Amino acid sequence: MLAAARGLSQRRFSSTTVDGFTGAVGSTPLIYLKHLSEKTGARIFGKAEFQNPGGSVKDRAALGVVRDAEERGLLQAGGTVVEGTAGNTGIGLAHVCRARGYKCVIFMPNTQSQEKIDLLRMLGAEVHAVPAVAYENPANYNHQARDYAKDQPNTIWTNQFDNTANANAHYLTTGPEIWEQTQGKIDAFICATGTGGTLAGVGKALKEKSEGKTQVWLADPPGSVLTSYINSGGKLVERSGSSITEGIGQGRITDNLQTFVKDLDGAFTVPDEKSIEMVYELLDTEGLYIGASSALNVVAAAELGLKLGKGSTIVTILCDGAYRYQSRLFSKKWLQSKGLEGAIPGHLKKYAVLD
Ligand SMILES: Cc1ncc(COP(=O)(O)O)c(C=O)c1O
Repeated sequence: MLAAARGLSQRRFSSTTVDGFTGAVGSTPLIYLKHLSEKTGARIFGKAEFQNPGGSVKDRAALGVVRDAEERGLLQAGGTVVEGTAGNTGIGLAHVCRARGYKCVIFMPNTQSQEKIDLLRMLGAEVHAVPAVAYENPANYNHQARDYAKDQPNTIWTNQFDNTANANAHYLTTGPEIWEQTQGKIDAFICATGTGGTLAGVGKALKEKSEGKTQVWLADPPGSVLTSYINSGGKLVERSGSSITEGIGQGRITDNLQTFVKDLDGAFTVPDEKSIEMVYELLDTEGLYIGASSALNVVAAAELGLKLGKGSTIVTILCDGAYRYQSRLFSKKWLQSKGLEGAIPGHLKKYAVLD
């Protein structure tokens, strides 16, 4: 894994053509967010992970876990890749599997939208929509994915939450790219976590390269236990509320996050009202059409910029586009049903064009 991924990142920095889908993963632009930077006095940048070929930051994790399995001899030609996921990881894995000739099997809760199931099927995955039961229940979709892969020849369960090949992909690619793009002038990195792969991998790379000078913070949606855990030094695991964001927030310290949690400089929670407002503001001021987890990240980057002061450079992740969520994020009815209509300022309401 190490050598191949390092080779990949070196090749990607130095060439203008790439080798297939997997060669197109990574090396995303770092976007200067002009309006927000002017408003805060800090220099705020978003890493455009929505430009990955499968449309999200999870393409890096998908490629990372598959490469790792290949290099450890667990996956050979014609093999099967199994994961429990309702979101971007499944999409990334489905693409990577097509590109490399593997079968892709996805388990997800049957409460997920037909659109998501259809998309994965269109990408060639075999989808098992199973009853939505708690993690503690052996019938939970994650456990079913694990059990499906067990004892099958040439079949792996990629286990995105606790397989540290996920964080390693970000350590070897996303982190070094950010360091190079900011020419090492980066005061802080902040993002929300789902598996913890992005935060842990990027955080480790930046701490090493800056010799500990770059601060690394976690941003959390409501309903996640991570802010309380980090700010209490690991004593508390309190959660309150819930969030409309997808793919982020956690009820436990995953193995990926565990690799870095002690090195975090702090954490705070961003309310949904601010995240949804930022979805609209980024569209209006920067022309960026991004999902709610990305918007939460940008709110957090701006807050950290105010905290660290004028001229500080803060980087965050623009995880995916709004396309996957538009029927909700831009629907008046949906905003009302979540009590979020009032979070959109009057001059931005024109973007909520769906009923
Ligand atoms: C939209 C979105 N944002 C953020 C994340 C979090 O990334 P990570 O799993 O690396 O913590 C995910 C993960 O699935 C995601 O789908």
